[in-house]
Amino acid sequence: MKSEKRKIAIIGAGKIGATLAMRVAENDLADVLLLDVKENLAHGVVLDLKDNLSILGCPQRVNYAIDYLELAGADIVVITAGFSRKPDMSREDLLGKNEEVIREITLKIKRYIPNAIIIVVTNPLDIMTYLVYKISGFSRPKVMGMSGVLDAGRFGGLIADELKVSAQNIQAMVMGMHSDLMLPLPKYSTAYGVSIRRILDRERVEQLLKKTRKRGAEIVSYLACSAHYAPSAAVFLMLKAICNNEKRVLPVSVYLEGEYNLSNVCLGVPVKIGGKGIEEIVELELDKEEKKILQESAKKAKEGIRKLGIYSKRKI
Ligand code: LAC
Repeated sequence: MKSEKRKIAIIGAGKIGATLAMRVAENDLADVLLLDVKENLAHGVVLDLKDNLSILGCPQRVNYAIDYLELAGADIVVITAGFSRKPDMSREDLLGKNEEVIREITLKIKRYIPNAIIIVVTNPLDIMTYLVYKISGFSRPKVMGMSGVLDAGRFGGLIADELKVSAQNIQAMVMGMHSDLMLPLPKYSTAYGVSIRRILDRERVEQLLKKTRKRGAEIVSYLACSAHYAPSAAVFLMLKAICNNEKRVLPVSVYLEGEYNLSNVCLGVPVKIGGKGIEEIVELELDKEEKKILQESAKKAKEGIRKLGIYSKRKI
């Protein structure tokens, strides 16, 4: 499908949803429809966005919706709705508060937009992605969570700062859970094609890993709410990969069925993204220690999944 015909629905007009709508509209990527339980919020944000687009001379491809019926036919739905964490909260602490919100939204997507690709942004990310996958009943290529693109983007930015080179020279890879257990992979992270392990000593690499894992919480400690510029930029890359059928490999949270020796859990792994969603799961070779961290991520994610109460017969 041609990019100009694409329609993207964004659920949640908070900071991530609003900034994402701005990025999509300013880049003329697709028509955007913004929906929020607070109708006035979506309405106000869209008026501001329209003014913004008109000042910049961009097409006005953004509107708000008050009913899921209006979202029918959307190619992609991005779920940003839900509570964001406060200082001293982990992403997992949001599970109880966000479960109901995501459950309700997913049922509506299933009913009114059954052919869409869903991108989940709400935390705890991997657990909410699992919930959406199970409740929607959508096929695996059509449900993904935004995590690794953000974490790898943060890791890449920190590497670029450390080496004093452009971030465009960096390719970073982060797998695993979008939590303190994330797995940044120095051996698959390169600067101008060279593994950072060959450029930076172990101690400097360790420092960068630590900073990457803590970056989300560091931002929360200053803002008293979650980041939104970088998360919206990360979702934008995923949307672009879908709308332009890029076949780009990006780390995203996806339901695993045996890949990396893991199943019945959503975790961040590199996948090829094209016009129909996830086209392939890329299996990187991991060493013993990396596999262990990934297993710990899976264990932690499954602890959250068990609390959802949607789990029935199959053992996880
Ligand atoms: C972060 C939130 C979006 O990492 O999880 O900033």
